Amino acid sequence: MEWMLNAANGSSRILAGESLDRLPGLLPESRCVIVTDPEVRRLHAPRFPDLEIIEVGRGEAQKTSEAMTHVYRECLRLGLDRSSFLVGIGGGIVCDIAGFAAATYMRGLDFGAVPTTLLAQCDAGLGGKTGINFQGRKNLIGVFRQPKFVLCDPTVLSTLPEPEIRHGLAEVIKHGAILDPGLFGLIEDRGERMLGRDPQALGEAVKLSLRIKSSVVESDPLEQGRRRLLNFGHTLGHAVEATAGLPHGEAVAAGMAAAARISLWKGWLRQEDFSRLTRLLAKLGLPDSLPAGLDGDTLDRAVRADKKRRGDGVIFVLLREIGKAETVIMSFSELKEHIHDLCKRG
Ligand SMILES: NC(=O)c1ccc[n+]([C@@H]2O[C@H](COP(=O)([O-])OP(=O)(O)OC[C@H]3O[C@@H](n4cnc5c(N)ncnc54)[C@H](O)[C@@H]3O)[C@@H](O)[C@H]2O)c1
Repeated sequence: MEWMLNAANGSSRILAGESLDRLPGLLPESRCVIVTDPEVRRLHAPRFPDLEIIEVGRGEAQKTSEAMTHVYRECLRLGLDRSSFLVGIGGGIVCDIAGFAAATYMRGLDFGAVPTTLLAQCDAGLGGKTGINFQGRKNLIGVFRQPKFVLCDPTVLSTLPEPEIRHGLAEVIKHGAILDPGLFGLIEDRGERMLGRDPQALGEAVKLSLRIKSSVVESDPLEQGRRRLLNFGHTLGHAVEATAGLPHGEAVAAGMAAAARISLWKGWLRQEDFSRLTRLLAKLGLPDSLPAGLDGDTLDRAVRADKKRRGDGVIFVLLREIGKAETVIMSFSELKEHIHDLCKRG
């Protein structure tokens, strides 16, 4: 299935449930170079087009300015110019690094994304957010630049370790929780099959997620309004990721559970909907609360460093019901109280 994402800052051709073998046909005639990591290369290089490869390291700790320096050096060494084209083949980290390199090298090259984790296929690969972490702060340096295409092949997910499937499901649950009760219900029904890598169930989750994200990005590519809803669970999630070292998907799950509990405390969300969310997270082996033993003051400091900060508050997404969310500016003093209450409960 394919469609065009047409946003004010560029258009992307989205190919969901399509084969990686289509990649050569998507590339321009100009010089093309692949950016990937060693694991994706080891597992899937036989299906890559015959192009030069720039390798980046694995893991969140690699998403740094040092990694960018390495990619820029390789671009220079390979003699890439503004007509060249980068293709990121890998998880969210590869897609973020390749996109940022493409957006900044020589003031910008075109690029395409071939996300190979569930998280990247459902979320990170599409939408044009690129960037790196800086001094322990998530995605602090980055730019918006739409990829020319996003190619999602469900068969590459067969090599993903189970925890990575689970991390991706956290972002699918997020899409359902904020905007699509039908998708949320689908994960309630088929989440365990998705965890077991059932290609049909996974393919459906990816397509529905991409549809939701496409429509949000089209209406608000630079995250000035509606797109902020996609940050549900991410304000506390990024702080948990930075302080407790949880993988992104698990940190987002913990952040969603915490944001839903705050929504419950504020009288925005019914107990029944809160329980649906936490039950689903727990059923899929994801955190349904903040990790035990987190220090409230440390978490509070990490939240204050968030780039969604606005004056003495932060843009925060609350749930109204399953399938409906709203953003508020929450003052740091209110959020600090919630954080301490959440940390006491675990
Ligand atoms: N730009 C965005 O809009 C956006 C959105 C969400 C998340 N993100 C970012 O995405 C990152 C997380 O991405 P992720 O969860 O994909 O992690 P990741 O990129 O670290 O990939 C996880 C691991 O899976 C391996 N892997 C990748 N594809 C594989 C495959 N098919 N088979 C076997 N192993 C494979 C990788 O080598 C890596 O070790 C975070 O840095 C997060 O900030 C960005």
